[in-house]
Amino acid sequence: MSKALDFLLQARPEAMQAYFSFLKKSGSHLDAKTAALISVITKVHAKTANGLRQYLPRALKAGASADEVIDALLMAMPALGFSKIVWAIDIILDMNLSEFGHYLKENLPDRNASTAPVPQWRSIFDVAALADGETRFVKNGCEAYYVLRDGERAQVYSARCPHRDNIIPESGCAHDTLTCPFHEWKFDLKTGRCIAGGTKPVTAVAAKVEAGKIWVQ
Ligand code: FES
Repeated sequence: MSKALDFLLQARPEAMQAYFSFLKKSGSHLDAKTAALISVITKVHAKTANGLRQYLPRALKAGASADEVIDALLMAMPALGFSKIVWAIDIILDMNLSEFGHYLKENLPDRNASTAPVPQWRSIFDVAALADGETRFVKNGCEAYYVLRDGERAQVYSARCPHRDNIIPESGCAHDTLTCPFHEWKFDLKTGRCIAGGTKPVTAVAAKVEAGKIWVQ
């Protein structure tokens, strides 16, 4: 019980006892669980943290499950408003009650887990078709690449120009230099760096050599 109620009981014992008696009798036709859930709602409505901490365990003891507590809070949303429900849930989580444990552990999504799809590898070329040190323009669906073979490894760049995203055609490649015909940006294919016209490098693509193929992501 709060200090204030203790004080009022001392200062106005008859009035307060009548008040408690009223509370007790007013729920006499409700089962214990329903009455306790309503008490939880009233504590949330009054934003009394101590009251919520006191009455929530009573509701659980009376047989209410964590889901029923959450449902009761959500059903009372028209009276409570969303911010009070969030306030109550914060307190409930801080209470570390075992009944809510499955929400805290298995059932809550891992917010640190990435939801981004894992890029898939796809083969774009037979490695044997490329001599060591050779560079080749390779089309694959809507994409195109410049592939350089370096022994058992392959270096792959997107053929899309970093200036305006145009595909730099095969005719733009001479030795290890790539020249975009649109605005004459030039790139060193050994490093990907832009060596004339602009500042941005060509985009390096994740690549691997496996089972005789060159694969990209
Ligand atoms: S689009 Fe390639 S240089 Fe402009």
